[in-house]
Amino acid sequence: MHRLQVVLASRPTGEPKEADFRLVESAVPEPGEGQLLVGNLWLSLDPYMRMRMNAGRSYAKPVELGEVMVGGAVGEVLSSRHAAFAKGDHVVGPLGWQTHAISDGSGLRRVEAKTIPLRAYLGAAGMPGVTAHFGLLEIGAPKEGETVVVSAAAGAVGSVVGQIAKLRGCRAIGIAGGPAKCSLVVGELGFDACVDYRAADFEQQLAAATPQGIDVYFENVGGRVLDRVLLRMNDFGRIPLCGQISQYSATEPYGLTNVGALLVHRIKLQGFIVSDHAEQWPAALTELEHWIGAGRIKMLETIAEGLGKAPRAFIGMLRGENIGKQLVKLA
Ligand SMILES: NC(=O)c1ccc[n+]([C@@H]2O[C@H](COP(=O)([O-])OP(=O)(O)OC[C@H]3O[C@@H](n4cnc5c(N)ncnc54)[C@H](OP(=O)(O)O)[C@@H]3O)[C@@H](O)[C@H]2O)c1
Repeated sequence: MHRLQVVLASRPTGEPKEADFRLVESAVPEPGEGQLLVGNLWLSLDPYMRMRMNAGRSYAKPVELGEVMVGGAVGEVLSSRHAAFAKGDHVVGPLGWQTHAISDGSGLRRVEAKTIPLRAYLGAAGMPGVTAHFGLLEIGAPKEGETVVVSAAAGAVGSVVGQIAKLRGCRAIGIAGGPAKCSLVVGELGFDACVDYRAADFEQQLAAATPQGIDVYFENVGGRVLDRVLLRMNDFGRIPLCGQISQYSATEPYGLTNVGALLVHRIKLQGFIVSDHAEQWPAALTELEHWIGAGRIKMLETIAEGLGKAPRAFIGMLRGENIGKQLVKLA
């Protein structure tokens, strides 16, 4: 049996290409004392990985050339010399773009496929779900009856944000790319409306969908969408700044023109990184698992098959080819 790994072959300029990744094969390693060997079952592909492909300062250190791409995965413990994990356990954590991972247990959490499937621990019952829960409820702090707008609304984080907003009695408006995604956001996920940011009449659509203005804007994309949304924010509105995906591969940054709205409307805009808030995870995960198990939060997924397809699926996710959580099935 061999191990497959995807390593960073070159640092992209602009959009990543498949040639920026390399698939390598080696023997499956044995765990040392205090370590465990995990056979990865599902790999999560996430926008933050694009930033880790760059050199330079960010909130986490870059992946070095030749290093295995970072990533969350769910797997099964194949052998263990670690006191806290046994063969047969299922775990989720930073196991990387590879079929087999050696871990010292750091960042690993045991999970069970009792009420929800294992792969959900990479989506709505995992990091993206907690991001939605924490960003919306702690920073956005929506009140019943308020209007919550979320961009990348058909994606892993955005789809959960709008559904939690509905559970809290808010009006939930999505922003997504194209009419097909928008009808899914409304028809399948139960948002009140969804606006297509690629349409020529985006601004008119946004105004029609938010007649009372916007109280909370859950920001995932940056650029022109953020600039236009700023003009519809209500006084004392809140903006949890979760992501800026339109800028991750941009070779020239978008120059915002409506930042003055933050002052005029006394808006709170707060960036956050979900991994800083470890204390929030257990309660958020319990609530999310409950909602998913009870069918109150629906999960959308796009699944690629096999580690070799990961680079292509990742590039596609950055372009918006995914619906919901982008996963790679490894076994
Ligand atoms: N702060 C944190 O701790 C944290 C944690 C997790 C995720 N995030 C951020 O949350 C955001 C969503 O992540 P996700 O995992 O849920 O990914 P996702 O939404 O499942 O996938 C990315 C989506 O971004 C949209 N997109 C791509 N380019 C765009 C552009 N130029 N303008 C507008 N939309 C664009 C695409 O949807 P369309 O087809 O609609 O364009 C695409 O499907 C990302 O910005 C990510 O970095 C932050």
